[in-house]
Amino acid sequence: MNFKKEFAQLLSAQVDGQLTAEQIEIVLEKPKQPEHGDLAFPCFSLAKIFRQAPQKIAAELSEKISSPLFEKVEVAGGYVNVFFNKETAALDILKQVLSEQGEFGRSDAGTGGVMTIDMSSPNIAKPFSMGHLRSTVIGNSIALIAEKSGFKPFKINHLGDWGTQFGKLITAYKLWGSEEKVSQNPIKELLSLYVKFHEEAINNPSLEDDGRLWFKKLENGNEEAMELWTWFRDESLKEFTRIYDLLGIEFDSSAGEAFYNDKMDRVIDLIEEKGLLVESDDAKVVDLSDLELPPCLIKKSDGATLYATRDLAAALYRKENYNFVQSLYVVGNEQSLHFKQLIAVLDKMGYEWANTMKHIPFGMMLKDGKKMSTRKGKVILLEEVLAESIAMSAKNIQEKNPNLTNKDDVARMVGVGAVVFHDLKNYRLNDIEFSLEDMLRFEGETGPYIQYTYARACSILRKGNWDKSEIPAEFPLSWTEEWKVITALAEFPEAVKRAMDKYDPSQIAKYVIDLSREFNKYYAEVKILEPSEKKPARLALVSAVTMVVKEGLRLLGMEAPEEM
Ligand code: ARG
Repeated sequence: MNFKKEFAQLLSAQVDGQLTAEQIEIVLEKPKQPEHGDLAFPCFSLAKIFRQAPQKIAAELSEKISSPLFEKVEVAGGYVNVFFNKETAALDILKQVLSEQGEFGRSDAGTGGVMTIDMSSPNIAKPFSMGHLRSTVIGNSIALIAEKSGFKPFKINHLGDWGTQFGKLITAYKLWGSEEKVSQNPIKELLSLYVKFHEEAINNPSLEDDGRLWFKKLENGNEEAMELWTWFRDESLKEFTRIYDLLGIEFDSSAGEAFYNDKMDRVIDLIEEKGLLVESDDAKVVDLSDLELPPCLIKKSDGATLYATRDLAAALYRKENYNFVQSLYVVGNEQSLHFKQLIAVLDKMGYEWANTMKHIPFGMMLKDGKKMSTRKGKVILLEEVLAESIAMSAKNIQEKNPNLTNKDDVARMVGVGAVVFHDLKNYRLNDIEFSLEDMLRFEGETGPYIQYTYARACSILRKGNWDKSEIPAEFPLSWTEEWKVITALAEFPEAVKRAMDKYDPSQIAKYVIDLSREFNKYYAEVKILEPSEKKPARLALVSAVTMVVKEGLRLLGMEAPEEM
């Protein structure tokens, strides 16, 4: 914002070169109480430099700050507080939003660097779990925020399509499977085969040997094994794709674990060349005891590779092919150790870029306080959850607005948006309680509430015949009632920045909640459409709100219906 820059520059000119305007801009705060002004500069670090009381420094500085942008400069405690000149400020912000529209809040902080985002990554022949949903929506939102922040995001679906479990699955299928059943209901059927395998293996341990054998065959490209594996994979992907389509999410790459099958020898050789591969209980590992981490398993005694080996190959492949400046892994908290080990091994191998790899963990989805499990067949199928949410939204719409023309479309936007918003409004490390009723409420911090706010604002603009390409040159308003909405609008670029810095979409979700709240309060207090000379200015404000809410929702991966 110009106001911040102006304040920072004025201050910087008065501090004997101790702080640049940029350094000052970072520490500027928004006072908690509005009666303390719009922006505050804390003088505590200057107090240390100059060995003076912060209050004294604040008092001296306040004398020297003056600008037509500021109505008033005050001192409180060790802070210099400024009050914006509302007319200038409101005009400045509104004009910026109305002319930049969806581009408002964009920055080039990422300077075009590639950010790979490992996300979603469900396992073939297993249900798409709540954890995978969290990874998908968090990863997608981070990608959108990254793009807005000047990075080039590259979304990778690291499918779990390789590993000893496929040997077990082939064994189970050959013993008990039916082609017809699998074709009809692939994931449910394959999952129950997998479950049966484990039940039977308790009394019949030789099954495990068969499983290992089939995985070996698969690794060696045995035709029958490959054919079954390809079929399981294709059928599972069809189911996953239905979910991605509903969410409106696409990937730049779906190279899963199997993709690295022929790329692992090289990694193992490299680890060996660097003298890092050691024998332990017949297996080959990288010792990480100096970092107080358990050893990273590279190769099992039977020669089979592991999840970690494939991730090492993938990391190398991504660096060499995409030359990322940052490489994110949006994966549940329970895999923290795995990613610590992964980064530690690459670091030991001498790759400086290992420290640009980041695990972006998230908490669990709970149902009645307990983890939602995908094992033992006790699953809530995600596709059913989305379908139910859409159906419930459709019912709501039918009650509230039976004449709406594109009801199905809107029900999908709202039903899916409700699930996405419920996930993203929480700081990602928090566990969240799954509740369709909560998600779909029209009041409170929900997706439908935000979308409804948007639709309501759009309806005002329609009724007021507002033309969004028109930016009034003057706004004859004192902006008192509007002020909170104006300042909320002005905060959007910072919310985007915070979301990027913390890899945390909830910063955007919280922001749209605040903006919607302020707007709804304003809507309740002021008759926007009432004929008056203030009407165009008020409509301009409503228009700016729709632009920012829509853009905020877009960054969360949600759509904004103009009517609902
Ligand atoms: N497929 C794994 C799982 O479901 C997640 C993979 C995460 N990505 C990775 N590069 N390890 O647990």
